[in-house]
Amino acid sequence: MITDFWETILFGVAKYKSNAIAVHQQLHTKSAFTDQHFERWVSLFQSTIDALFFGDKAELAKQRAVSIATVMRIKTVHGSSPINIKNNQS
Ligand code: HEM
Repeated sequence: MITDFWETILFGVAKYKSNAIAVHQQLHTKSAFTDQHFERWVSLFQSTIDALFFGDKAELAKQRAVSIATVMRIKTVHGSSPINIKNNQS
């Protein structure tokens, strides 16, 4: 699943057919994600890419990871509203 996802994201291979955001929205209802989880996820992802890869695709992977994590965070931690000051404090 995860490898299909990244092949699709980075190489345009139409392999991943599911919806990763929806999967994480489901997970969020079972055990809530926080902003800190996403910050940690992004930081570990970036350092792992830097340790193992270099080049255009490595840069693209890091950029896409940040954008997808941002959307996922907004759609889980912050409901679907990006501007939710109240939820921001949790
Ligand atoms: C706080 C951060 C995150 C946590 C704790 C987390 C946790 C998980 C867990 C537990 C699963 C397994 C779900 C299951 O099979 O029931 C999963 C699946 C997955 N995660 Fe994450 N995730 C995080 C962020 C992300 C981000 C930012 C991405 C993408 C950039 C991502 C991509 C995926 C994909 C592609 C799957 C497979 C989904 C599927 O079955 O179709 N995750 N994640």
